[in-house]
Amino acid sequence: METGASTVSGYEEKDEDLRPEDLSEMLGAGTREIHEKAENTQFVKDFLRGNICKELFKLGVVALYYTYTALEEEIERNKEHPNFAPLYFPAELHRHEALARDIEFFYGPEWKSQISYSEATKQYVERIHQVGQEDPVLLVAHAYTRYMGDLSGGQVLKKVAQRALKLPPTGEGLEFYHFEGIHSPKAFKQLYRSRMNELELDVETKKRLVAEAVKAFHLNIKVFEELDDIGKNIPREVSDAGMSHHGAMGGDINKCPYYAAKMAASGGTAYVGQLVLAVLRHPTGQVLFATWFAALAGLAAWYLM
Ligand code: HEM
Repeated sequence: METGASTVSGYEEKDEDLRPEDLSEMLGAGTREIHEKAENTQFVKDFLRGNICKELFKLGVVALYYTYTALEEEIERNKEHPNFAPLYFPAELHRHEALARDIEFFYGPEWKSQISYSEATKQYVERIHQVGQEDPVLLVAHAYTRYMGDLSGGQVLKKVAQRALKLPPTGEGLEFYHFEGIHSPKAFKQLYRSRMNELELDVETKKRLVAEAVKAFHLNIKVFEELDDIGKNIPREVSDAGMSHHGAMGGDINKCPYYAAKMAASGGTAYVGQLVLAVLRHPTGQVLFATWFAALAGLAAWYLM
């Protein structure tokens, strides 16, 4: 079977002759609105501003790991399916191995026992498996949504993460963003588009693919919203314990710009709670609190007498 690896040199396909009924055009147009929504989720906006703490970033990497594990499992299952075979580019695109290395970097050698599915990730993964097993043509929509997106915004996100999290310039922890087998993302995207357009699909199927791509965006948005919610409530214990042995940022949740921004936005009540807990955790804090509490009790007794 022909795989992408043997033909990638034929990158130079042009998109001058594209027609609105070509799948690449239908997908681009049909997901424009939801793409904008994804770009404007709080989590993505915070990420782009560098407002992300390592703990949350790590959870994002875990979500990606499960997503790509499922996606690439289903791609392998369907690599000879005529509606997917022309898009089979394991050497160029597949992210599972890179993500496993990123997770090992963040969580250490025992990473497998330290990660688990979040609810939103589970929903995304279940949909990918369902599609791969019951309606493989729709797998094209999931591959498009992730790989074309990664090839588009990946380099910007890599730089933002590297700077915000003070990750090594050598790229450890960010291998997901590095497509070793792709020298020109722009040219590769053109090739991928032309391969999508060569699939023999009727209009009805193309429309189903657009609807599935919109669904894939929604599933991504759910993961972002979930991460945003987690970011608002990362307890100090998790943040402290979870910081990697490589962690350049130390384990203090208060150093997380994302967390600080959220606390300011929430009016700081949760922050006060965190502060009280932090004081109580410290022996000097306990003595001070006991003294303050005794004085308050004395005052109350005097007042009630
Ligand atoms: C950080 C926010 C994002 C920014 C700034 C961004 C930016 C871009 C840009 C500039 C392109 C056009 C690339 C080109 O013309 O070749 C693009 C394409 C794309 N993005 Fe995003 N994106 C973001 C988030 C996402 C997300 C969250 C997804 C899905 C999970 C996604 C999926 C895609 C896809 C599938 C394409 C290809 C569109 C096409 O050519 O048909 N993007 N993105």
